[in-house]
Amino acid sequence: MSVDTLLPQIAEVLRNARAIAVLTGAGLSAESGIPTFRDAQTGLWAQYRAEDLATPEAFERNPQLVWDWYEMRREGVRAAQPNPGHFALAAMQVQAPACTLITQNVDGLLQRAGGRMVLELHGNILRNTCFDDGCVVEAVLEGQRPPRCPQCGGMVRPDVVWFGEELPADVLTHAIRAAKECDVFLSIGTSALVHPAAQLPMSALDNGATLIEVNRDPTPLSPSAHYSVRALAGEFQPRLVKAAWPEAA
Ligand code: OAD
Repeated sequence: MSVDTLLPQIAEVLRNARAIAVLTGAGLSAESGIPTFRDAQTGLWAQYRAEDLATPEAFERNPQLVWDWYEMRREGVRAAQPNPGHFALAAMQVQAPACTLITQNVDGLLQRAGGRMVLELHGNILRNTCFDDGCVVEAVLEGQRPPRCPQCGGMVRPDVVWFGEELPADVLTHAIRAAKECDVFLSIGTSALVHPAAQLPMSALDNGATLIEVNRDPTPLSPSAHYSVRALAGEFQPRLVKAAWPEAA
């Protein structure tokens, strides 16, 4: 079915929802100029091997390379602005009786767009922690790459989840509860490949929720979705929120 045919149907589902859970991925920030991970040619993993950069072993093997790669990514995130897709999700959180924003992204753009209580499953690239004792490191001493923790002298690392690491337990628990308790689950801009995030829409389905996917390309989730829309988040999401809550426009 065409996007224009699906839009009013999905808007009706959202407007009548008791509780909405939203899972976002790199596709939501793509229109803000932040590279996704798996898009051929432009994706981060097309240029680098994840295991060479986004693992504790990679950091121990070559801390300066990993630190510099994340500094390069942070510059891009700081320069980026939230796009209409981020603002539409923040607006939906105001209009819907209950709307939990869960993100795999580490760019903080949903918060900058006004999103509240955003569940950052994979951390936040603009925060730092100590590689040794895990404490949050507010101010790093310039000069060394990576800088050292002022508390214990350990290496400072970005506060993001690396491959092979556990997700923050409290955040994941909250996200699982939101997925199980919602009656509408919205998956936006994610390839739905990386677990445990990719399990969340399936948990929602298992609990009888209506599953809506908004993604530029088909994903393994697409066949399971009640509505699977091939669209750009920054274009479609604002139209969807306006159709669901015209009084809010
Ligand atoms: P991916 O790069 O795997 O997938 C991005 C998805 O967004 C693709 O399916 C694209 O089709 C879609 N897309 C691209 N531009 C879009 C747009 N403008 N509007 C809508 N959809 C668009 O990124 P994620 O699914 O977020 O994990 O990847 C999940 C995790 O894998 C990341 O959080 C990261 C990565 O390894 C960690 O770093 C732990």
